[in-house]
Amino acid sequence: MTENDTARDLDESDIGIKAKSVDLAELVRALGRRSIVLVGIMGCGKSTVGKRLAQRLGLEFIDADSEIERAANMTVSEIFTEHGEPYFRSGEERVIARLLGEGPQVLATGGGAFMSDATRSEITENGLSIWLKVDFDTVMARVRRRSTRPLLQNRDPEGTMRKLMADREPIYAKASMTVRSKDVPHEAVVDQIVVSLEEYLLDNAGN
Ligand code: S3P
Repeated sequence: MTENDTARDLDESDIGIKAKSVDLAELVRALGRRSIVLVGIMGCGKSTVGKRLAQRLGLEFIDADSEIERAANMTVSEIFTEHGEPYFRSGEERVIARLLGEGPQVLATGGGAFMSDATRSEITENGLSIWLKVDFDTVMARVRRRSTRPLLQNRDPEGTMRKLMADREPIYAKASMTVRSKDVPHEAVVDQIVVSLEEYLLDNAGN
């Protein structure tokens, strides 16, 4: 184990201890009607981490893509193939705006949703955004396991992913909070989110 590994491990267990001391009921009270909105590139863990975060906080978990699929009675891939991306994007804006009226909840958004100015303002007004920041190799390893993402169904998924990340990261960085989603157990990412939420909602409450 290198010195860096030791530092990182200590850091992670510290976060775990800190997360345990957070008053979750108070956190949820401070949230009011706002939703916790997870944003970030495909494969960054919005849905898996989101489900566990919702469970930890006793909130409902909603996946915006599943809601879009339900409203359209089609999969995201079918919507892209049959109606094209602009049609999907306008449905996505409408569905997320509707869902944001139903907080508090944990809401996972599709990777492109936060690129919309309209959606970003809706989120700022009715939610707290968290960017799950992930590195290229981790994300590629995850998305390679599935073929459900229409934007990557081409001859150069790696090049596409690099470009999407380069174009989108400056926008994801506008989220209220950033949490690194590393290849650690999901519960450890949830710990980091809980600690960030406490700092954001409770520690800065008087500022
Ligand atoms: C997209 C991400 C997907 C889905 C659609 C478009 C994107 O969601 O909304 O395929 O533009 O990055 P996930 O981020 O949940 O994979």
